[in-house]
Amino acid sequence: MWVNKNKKKILRAVEKFGTPLYIYSEENLLKQIAEYKKAFRGIDVLFCYALKANSNRHLCSLIAGRGFGADVVSGGELRAALSSGFRPEKIIFSGVGKTEEELALALRKNIFFINVESFEELEKLDETASRLGKRADFSIRINPDVDPHTHNYIATGKSGSKFGVDFEEASRMYSWARKRVRLNAVSAHFHLGSQLFSPVPYRKAFKKLLKFVSSLEKSGINLKSLDIGGGWGVKEGLDMGSPAVIAEIIRPYAGKYSFIMEPGRSVTASSGILAARALYRKTSGKRNIVILDAAMNDFIRPSLYGASHPVLNLSGGKGKKVRADIAGPVCESGDFFLKDFKTVLPERGDVLVILSAGAYGYSMSSNYNLRPKPAEVLLKKSGVRLIRKRQSYPEII
Ligand code: LLP
Repeated sequence: MWVNKNKKKILRAVEKFGTPLYIYSEENLLKQIAEYKKAFRGIDVLFCYALKANSNRHLCSLIAGRGFGADVVSGGELRAALSSGFRPEKIIFSGVGKTEEELALALRKNIFFINVESFEELEKLDETASRLGKRADFSIRINPDVDPHTHNYIATGKSGSKFGVDFEEASRMYSWARKRVRLNAVSAHFHLGSQLFSPVPYRKAFKKLLKFVSSLEKSGINLKSLDIGGGWGVKEGLDMGSPAVIAEIIRPYAGKYSFIMEPGRSVTASSGILAARALYRKTSGKRNIVILDAAMNDFIRPSLYGASHPVLNLSGGKGKKVRADIAGPVCESGDFFLKDFKTVLPERGDVLVILSAGAYGYSMSSNYNLRPKPAEVLLKKSGVRLIRKRQSYPEII
């Protein structure tokens, strides 16, 4: 685990840049990227990193530099992807509510394809492409109705969700698009949800997709690539498990199609931590409570999904263990990192780090309670580099 190996560097970064502070390991990030490449060796696959997990420009540049493309879901992310060096022909654009301005931007930038999520969006895309005199390369996001067995808020591939369209609607859309000169179908896509730890849902959905694509082929619609989405899970406190089990599902079709995969969390989660200091201790009834200087506005996953991210005390933590709630200063009872956590009671000023905060950490942070967003630093072999400044009060007031 890179955190234990880099304890001194982390503590020095905290001294220099203050807390709360997001700290990332370059070495660990490159390791996850290498893991993906190794697992899919021999398959024509484009990894489109889902920027929503972490869109820091410096991290994105590292990922783009290793040949990855990008999966974006807004005009903001599209701009961020381009400015971090992702090549336009490796960028795909998903999302249920793209505005005309966003569609136009994607067309003007000649990205790989737009992942269309409804018939009405397809009509809007056709209209926008005609207005701009451009060809719109598109894919359709299909909802394959497969249960991803994950938290409800991050499950997307079941019937009834707002994402994608069912196979019948997708079929009508591809057929309609065939008659439109501006529209060019290049792919079909599914994304089942996030925090998937088993290949089984991928296998089920992929089987359905193959059946669908071969029925399209019979009617003369030939798609070159298939997009199997992201979602590969990361257990809090650990690196991702090998994605080779997913590669093996598609490998038999490697000669026939090219593939796209859209990993987000699994690329960055384990490479980031959120460092905070213990401010105060108190008791409430029988409970010990430790208040940190980081809060749900900095890292919302425990509050929003009940996610249990391990917390380590890097300053000491020797002595008798007690049970304590680790909470933040925000005025909500939902503002906590861990409940009833068995730990040595931290001293005031101790540095605690929340693990696996590299994905959906900073990118979901907010200014709630008018708290400035934290700074971000990157640990490199050559030293520590500030990759985003802490927000200042004038910026947020
Ligand atoms: N592709 C699409 C179309 C997506 O909607 C997502 C994530 C991904 C790829 C990347 O999924 P990943 O590999 O990161 O699981 N905020 C939540 C996660 C929301 C995921 C939304 N979509 C969390 O903190 O757990």
